[in-house]
Amino acid sequence: MEIVILPDPGAVARFGAAVLADLVRREPGAVLGLATGSSPLGIYAELAGLVSAGELDCTRATGFALDEYVGIPEDHPQSYASVIRAEVVEPLRMDPARVHVPDGRAADIPAACAAYEAAIRNAGGVAVQILGIGANGHIGFNEPTSSFASRTRIKTLAPRTRADNARFFDDPEDVPTHCLTQGLGTIMDARRLLLVAQGGGKAEAIAATVEGPVTAMAPGSILQHHPAVTVVVDEAAASKLRLADYYRHVFENKPEWQRIAVPPAS
Ligand code: GLP
Repeated sequence: MEIVILPDPGAVARFGAAVLADLVRREPGAVLGLATGSSPLGIYAELAGLVSAGELDCTRATGFALDEYVGIPEDHPQSYASVIRAEVVEPLRMDPARVHVPDGRAADIPAACAAYEAAIRNAGGVAVQILGIGANGHIGFNEPTSSFASRTRIKTLAPRTRADNARFFDDPEDVPTHCLTQGLGTIMDARRLLLVAQGGGKAEAIAATVEGPVTAMAPGSILQHHPAVTVVVDEAAASKLRLADYYRHVFENKPEWQRIAVPPAS
């Protein structure tokens, strides 16, 4: 894993945006794996700045969101379809027809999940998947004990996740109990993974992901098995990493050609 420790959330956002902008400039039709939550918002804002300045064109890129709530209407402001539209599609001027979110309102949930997997496959797979991490170590909505082989499916949210996400809803009781999420197996199929985290509240989850044993109790730890993962964190989120000084040394001494590379599509 490549661990990049940067001074503050602004630097994390600029680094993440550089990875994605580099990809889209080289592959204008690239498939981007989009995440919701607050962690990637700075990246999207940086990318939007490049788009408005005429330095980046995302109109031909495709996007697949990681997850969606079940049980709230698509036009609810906290549905991930709404969030992706407001935070990604509109500011990055992406083509809405090319940006996909799992259908949490489908009458046939297993069929909708299978269709989502097929759509990702038919698009050629995800080039770079952006990931945040839950305080309990979840990625997407793959809560602790999710199968490492899982594909897109319905999940029950952990009480801690519902409590963490209550800040987005008027009443904590309004937080949905279920969601659709890409599985850990789906996420692991992306060519490159870019995990971002800021703040001391994520320090434990980041340490478990990077340095802990690979265990379904810390779903992010499966990333240790992916050949092209970059974990970009600010100092606070890095504060529980035992080998932080080593990661800084590695990054500072890395040859330029080895930085920010997305493996070519096979
Ligand atoms: C949410 C999302 C995840 C996100 C995580 C952390 O519930 N499903 O994709 O990474 O929890 O959220 P935040 O970035 O707001 O801390």
